[in-house]
Amino acid sequence: MRRLIKGGTLVDHRGCYRQDLLIEQGRIARRASEIAIEPDMAVIDAGGCQVMPGGIDVHTHFNIDVGIGRSCDDFFTGTRAAACGGTTTIVDHMGFGPAGCDLHHQLARYHEYAGGQAVIDYSFHGVIQHVDDAILDEMASMVTQEGVSSFKLYLTYQYKLDDGAVLRALQRLRQVGALATVHPENDAAIRWQRDIFLREGRTAPVYHALSRPLACEAEAVARMINLASLAGGAPLYIVHLSNGLGLDYIRLAQRAGQAVWAETCPQYLLLDDSLYLRPDGMQFILSPPLRPREEQDALWRGLADGSIATVATDHCNFSRQQRLTLSGGDFSRCPNGLPGVENRLALLYSGGVASGRLTPSQFVALTSARPAQLFGLWPQKGNLNPGADADLVLFDPRRSVTLRHEAMHDNGDYSPYEGMTCRGWPVLTLCRGEIVCRDGVFSGQRGHGRFVRRQPFRATAGADSF
Ligand code: URP
Ligand code: ZN
Ligand code: ZN
Repeated sequence: MRRLIKGGTLVDHRGCYRQDLLIEQGRIARRASEIAIEPDMAVIDAGGCQVMPGGIDVHTHFNIDVGIGRSCDDFFTGTRAAACGGTTTIVDHMGFGPAGCDLHHQLARYHEYAGGQAVIDYSFHGVIQHVDDAILDEMASMVTQEGVSSFKLYLTYQYKLDDGAVLRALQRLRQVGALATVHPENDAAIRWQRDIFLREGRTAPVYHALSRPLACEAEAVARMINLASLAGGAPLYIVHLSNGLGLDYIRLAQRAGQAVWAETCPQYLLLDDSLYLRPDGMQFILSPPLRPREEQDALWRGLADGSIATVATDHCNFSRQQRLTLSGGDFSRCPNGLPGVENRLALLYSGGVASGRLTPSQFVALTSARPAQLFGLWPQKGNLNPGADADLVLFDPRRSVTLRHEAMHDNGDYSPYEGMTCRGWPVLTLCRGEIVCRDGVFSGQRGHGRFVRRQPFRATAGADSF
């Protein structure tokens, strides 16, 4: 069936256009100022709406096993929630596997988790738990044969890498055409402070934030930037940036021409560390933690000036019940992570576009085009050009919605954004031409989502080369 989207304003990362858009066989077939309706076309009236490339969330954790528990969204419920918020592709960060496992081990696991479950398209970032010759030798085939062209390194948590391992990994990833993504926090500094708090019996949620101050993150950001430079200019992507000092280091490197990109998340733009003082503060435990309010302004400036390239969610959903049971009231035993995959676009649109901080095209760049370019999904995804997948979201800028978890589609029991009002709302989502959500009603199908083999990394520093 052909679908015609009529009467809307098309928005891509370069501009806005009053055009109709025709979909054939799941792809964008044509755009023109007027496309005549023909009998075999199903028409979608987009009057008053902005028609954008579907969102690409390059940071989720579905079905992740964190040792003490498993997150409550799997690839069905997680992608269902994503679809209902206008996201049409996710790239999930694989969790750690058994000690000593190879890169393909977790890839096979994750294919089992997502295959036949996802309702929108998906891919995975590899995870590097240790570095030896065998792991380094495996990287090339992950990129060229498996279509996995980005990998995550952790500087904290169970499988943190030391500087030597980071250097070896960065150098090889550069050689094989992969992008290194990193969780940057100084593990020793965190442990030092956390152990003091625990010895003193300070286990309330606020001590989670106080044990991981922003200097821990900023130090690790700066270190990673320098290690990437030492590794021959390895491309580097900083995940979930939460603060302005880290951003200053990133800007410094970008101005010097280094291939460094940064991602932030709605929680760091809209929530702050005062939430840890609430009785339900355990609901906001994630790493890096929420920061003082002034950091939000620095991040918004980074979005506006382009020094932050993407907005993802880091969706890692542990229910209130899981948090209470597992933590027993002790922040150091609480599983880390927040839900949010359904609300990313609405929150960023409201706080960014409706508030006048971002143009609609910047919004598309941050949520879809740049993620596609950096993670090897372009030009199949992230744009509205003929030939691209018909992954689309229709945004109605006139619609205001107050967020309530009861209307969401994840498998958890709360939203960190409960009660916030969003100006502008995703009213229709299409994944490869199929309607997966309309007006908050999910209409997709389990298993409709396909694994996307991503291209090797090829973006160039500081330039929009696409
Ligand atoms: O607290 C968080 N962010 N949990 C998810 C895993 C990670 O660090 O990205
Ligand atoms: Zn992380
Ligand atoms: Zn994460």
